[in-house]
This record gives sequence, structure tokens and C-alpha cells, in this order.
Amino acid sequence: MGSGKSTVAREVAHRLGVPCLDLDAEIERRAGVDIPTLFEREGERAFRALEVETLRLLLGDVEDAVVALGGGTVANVESRHALLRAGTLVTLDADLAELVRRVAGEGGRPLLQGVDPERRLRELLSSRADAYAECHGRVPSGARDPRAIAEDVVALARRELIAVPLGRRTYRVEVGSGVRHGSGAHAAAMCDGDKLLLVSDRNVAPHWANSLRGALEAEGRKVVEVVLPPGEEHKSIETVNLIWERALDGGMDRGCGVVSLGGGVVGDLAGFAASTLLRGIPVGHLPTTVLSMADSAIGGKTGFDTRHGKNLVGTFHQPSFVTCDVEVLGTLPERDRISGLAEIAKSAWLAGESEVAAIEDDAAALRRGEPEALIRAVRMSATLKARIVTEDERESGTRALLNLGHTVGHALEAAEGYAGLRHGEAVALGMVAAFKLAVKLGSARTDDQQRARALLSSLGLPVDVEGRLDAATLAYIAADKKRRGGQVTFVIPGAPGEVELRPLPLEQVGDLLRM
Ligand SMILES: NC(=O)c1ccc[n+]([C@@H]2O[C@H](COP(=O)([O-])OP(=O)(O)OC[C@H]3O[C@@H](n4cnc5c(N)ncnc54)[C@H](O)[C@@H]3O)[C@@H](O)[C@H]2O)c1
Repeated sequence: MGSGKSTVAREVAHRLGVPCLDLDAEIERRAGVDIPTLFEREGERAFRALEVETLRLLLGDVEDAVVALGGGTVANVESRHALLRAGTLVTLDADLAELVRRVAGEGGRPLLQGVDPERRLRELLSSRADAYAECHGRVPSGARDPRAIAEDVVALARRELIAVPLGRRTYRVEVGSGVRHGSGAHAAAMCDGDKLLLVSDRNVAPHWANSLRGALEAEGRKVVEVVLPPGEEHKSIETVNLIWERALDGGMDRGCGVVSLGGGVVGDLAGFAASTLLRGIPVGHLPTTVLSMADSAIGGKTGFDTRHGKNLVGTFHQPSFVTCDVEVLGTLPERDRISGLAEIAKSAWLAGESEVAAIEDDAAALRRGEPEALIRAVRMSATLKARIVTEDERESGTRALLNLGHTVGHALEAAEGYAGLRHGEAVALGMVAAFKLAVKLGSARTDDQQRARALLSSLGLPVDVEGRLDAATLAYIAADKKRRGGQVTFVIPGAPGEVELRPLPLEQVGDLLRM
């Protein structure tokens, strides 16, 4: 209220050449009376119900438009998340004194009737702070020229960010070519201490660490750097200790933050170290593999392997930003790039028919590593991951669906001592095994099974799992941390978008997989 959203919305629409709509005006049109009258006659509850319904219809009807929303619209979680999915949601920020100045003397504000405006505005801002934080970006409004504000909004919209809405811990995933150049500013925004710890590995650092260090230093921060030994075999407590020691030797304090530059291994280790250093400091990720862009950098799972299996020790620690620059994939060995496409295929199958069809269409381009196809695929996968993490941050339900292909995949990796198969290759084989189970259990049709196998194969991934399902692999499945009382929870796929969690007795799994 008083943030200037109607004026700014018109400016933004003018710049983008699209219509400008005002949700309040749409509500008045549907109700046939103005909002103060509606409030007076039917109360705030009835108004809110009409607001939710009007927005729902609008989002179904309108293609490209700028919509000015009432400040209470986004207080409704379903509306807010629908808005985040439908386009770019921007919060205009003005300080309290400016808002009070603007609404002073104005009539027709039902929420300010008969109350002290300053007190009421303070209450509204405080009670809606979490909701207002769940947006693609915040733009300072205040006393600025609306044209300058509109410029900022347009620039934000063009970045096509993916938001992971978690109240005040909300963060954004940016996917594109060259977007790493903005990461200095994102890192500086996540903490105000004088140092940042840059964590990478020996394969990544020679190509990409210098320019990132420069970007961080350009923000006035000292950079403490640690370059880890690469690969899953080093995803251990010893490597975590290298990070802890370097950070503490470098004089990091609680105001400092960690920036990871690397694949899933570096991200998981840096995230774990950040979550435990000084009882938790912020982390931002610049993933450098397809897998880490599509999956592991988003969602806050951190950890390392022990001799008992993968990722058995870890934490949940959401990042402050995730920047996926497909240009850095240019130095990734082809085998690793293709391996990461397994998580993309997995995400597409979880998301639904149109996502699977899009990856089928792009398969050849993805296999060749074409940037535009990679951007589309990473965005699809990151969007799905963001949605699932929002629904189930701590994996007490739907988030476990992301483990499609992982139960057998992890066992295959472990059986080879984490040195033979790449993680993604193991996931591809695990997906083939999951479809085998699904067909035998009657959840998937053989058409689905063949389609999934063809998709993985067209991406250049291994699909011949049969010879690998031996006693050693089954022993590792038995040790899977998801095992409960002799049962293994499997993600059982069906048609695209139809995937379920099913606990299965271990013996049955063995029998079905061997058959
Ligand atoms: N946290 C999660 O939610 C989550 C989800 C899925 C997977 N994971 C984890 O991710 C890990 C696998 O990640 P990954 O596939 O990215 O493997 P990785 O991190 O081991 O990277 C693969 C190899 O590529 C090198 N590399 C990375 N980026 C490069 C670049 N741009 N140029 C040159 N070389 C580069 C690495 O040094 C490494 O040798 C596993 O440990 C898995 O458990 C975590």
C-alpha cells in the first residue's frame, strides 16, 4: 500500500509493450462495486476469497501482461506460489516513513479505516514479511523516479530467475550464458563480513577460479581460497576438514560466507562445511557440472560419504544463491557432461509429458552440449527441483521422489568403490532398474519402459543394467539408508509425471530385479 505499484506497473508494461492490469480493478469489475464498498458490505474475508478467485482466472486467461497486485494478494500462499510459477514476481520496497507519507490524507483504503496508519502499516509489513520475501526480486521504490524503478523491474524479469520460496530464506536460481559475472554481487549480498571462502577443486580452479576471485574482490571482499582434490573418492570428512582448516586459518568469522565453484561433490562438501563452520554461515553455489546445475546445487542437502555408503553424514543448509552459467560446461569432460543428463531425464520424467517430450526433442543437441538446449534443460530441472523442495524441504514425503533411479544407482556406485561409474551413469542404470521393477509391479507399461530407456540411450547414457544386478549390488541396496525394517523404499515410475514411493521387502526387490 503506497509503494507506487500501479504507476510502476504501467511503466513496466509500456517498456515491455504488453497490457497492464490491476487486480483490484479486475475485482471491482467482477463484484460490480468498488473495494471499500465490498469491504463494508461483505468484510475482508469475502474480499480475499474474491481476490484469490479473480487472480486464478486471470492467470489462466492472460499470456503476457504486467499485473499490479494488492499488497494482501501475495499473503495467500497458493496465490503467491501460482504467481511465482506463472511469471516474475517483484516486491517493491519502500521504507515505512515513505509509505506513511504517501497514504496520509488518502481516503478509500479499507485496511486503514479508523486506525493509526503508521501502526497499521508497520503491523502489515511485519506480518507479511515472509510472504514479501518470496519473490523473484525486490526493487527499492521509495522516493525514486518510477521510470528508474521500472527499468530495474524489467532487468529483473529478463533474468528469468527461478525462485525457491522458503520465507526469509528464499533464494533464486539463475540459468544462462555468462551469468557468472553477476555472482560477485550475489555473494556480497549474502553476508557483510570482510571475507569470502572460495571452494573449488583441482579440475575446476585452473579454468574458472581466477575470474570468480576477481569478481568477489571487486565487491571489496578478501578471498580465502581452498582447492580440493577432485572426485567422489575425496567426498570425505578429511576433505571437509581441509575446508574448515583453511577457513579458520584464513580468519573467517560469523559474518563471512562460502562460495562453491564446482560439481556436486564440491557443492555438497562446501555446503556441509558452511553449515557447520562457526555453527553455520551462508553459502552460494556456482555449479560447474550439468548434474550440479540441474539438481544438487538446489535444495540445501549437503554431506559426504563414509565407508558405509554415500552421503550418510550431512545437513540441510539452503544456499543464498545459485548461479548456473552453461559457459563453464565448456571445460567439463564429455563423459561428465553426458552423465549429468541422467538427472535431467529423471527430472523430466517426474515433471510430466511436455517436459519428457522437450528433452526427447533436444536430445541430440544436449548430447552435443549446445548451450541453448542446456539452458532449457537446466531450467526445466531447476524449476522442478525448486517446486519439490518448496513442498517438502526436509524430505519427509514428496522430495524422496527425486531419488528415482538412485536406490540401485547408489548401490552400483558403491559396488564399484565409487571409482568406476559416474554418478549420473549409475542413476541412468538405476532408472532402467526402477522401470523393470515398475513393469513387474504393474505400475508402468512396457511402452513407458521402452520410452525411458530410449530417452536415456539417446542422451548417450548407459542402459544395460542386467549384468550388473549381482549379489554385491543387492547387498548395497540392503544397506541403503532409506531401508526401514527390512523394506526398501523405491521410487516406482509410471507414465511421465506419475511416480510413486513404494516400500518393498528386500527379498522381493532381489527376486524382481534378478528375474
Ligand atoms: N545435494 C544434493 O541434493 C545432490 C543431488 C544429486 C547429487 N548429489 C551429489 O553430487 C555428486 C556428483 O556431482 P557431479 O556429477 O557434479 O560430480 P563431480 O563434482 O565429481 O564432478 C565431476 C568431475 O568433473 C570435474 N569438473 C567439474 N566441473 C568441471 C568443469 N566445469 N570443467 C572441468 N572439470 C570439471 C570435477 O573435478 C570432477 O572430476 C555426488 O556426490 C552426489 O552424491 C547431491
